[in-house]
Amino acid sequence: MKIAVYPGSFDPVTMGHMDIIQRTSQIFDKVIIGVLNNRAKSPLFSVEERVKMLEEVTSELPNVEIQSFGGLLIDFVRQNQAQIIVRGLRAITDFEYELQMAQTNRVMAPEVDTLFLTTNLRYSYLSSSIVKEIAAGKGDIAAFVHPHVAEQMRRKLFG
Ligand code: COA
Repeated sequence: MKIAVYPGSFDPVTMGHMDIIQRTSQIFDKVIIGVLNNRAKSPLFSVEERVKMLEEVTSELPNVEIQSFGGLLIDFVRQNQAQIIVRGLRAITDFEYELQMAQTNRVMAPEVDTLFLTTNLRYSYLSSSIVKEIAAGKGDIAAFVHPHVAEQMRRKLFG
């Protein structure tokens, strides 16, 4: 069985992430979304909230599973018997950082490969920070996130 891990912060999950998740779910038997519990970053949503939102927006994809993780990505990949890490590339600016991570992970875990998917052009400008900024300014984020995520953001920011 071919298992892929798609890791990230997902604070919150955007349409750009969802595009990558949908396409990955068509390539692999099982896709595990790894939600990073990164204590160095101060996220808007707790890791539990991010996992719940991802569960909600991927509920129609039966081969997608959501888990949180801390520590090293390759340890999480090995624990789940996955062979592939999936990452989305939005623009050339993503490339240097992604290449560095992929090369480092490959040295630490030669049996694990990284697969890059180009992000849908519609979402190539998008990031979770931009969505948070627009939402905080009471802008319309309907084009950027699933309606469920938009509602969670509204509640989080304005009660
Ligand atoms: N569409 C839209 N936006 C996207 C996107 C896509 N397809 N892919 C990424 N982004 C955005 C995210 O929204 C995020 O935006 P933000 O910075 O405004 O929050 C940004 O790109 C970064 O994306 P993300 O995919 O969440 O990556 P990350 O840099 O937060 O985390 C990990 C990357 C989890 C893979 C990495 O930190 C990791 O492996 N950590 C574990 C520790 C480890 O193993 N370290 C050694 C690595 S060599």
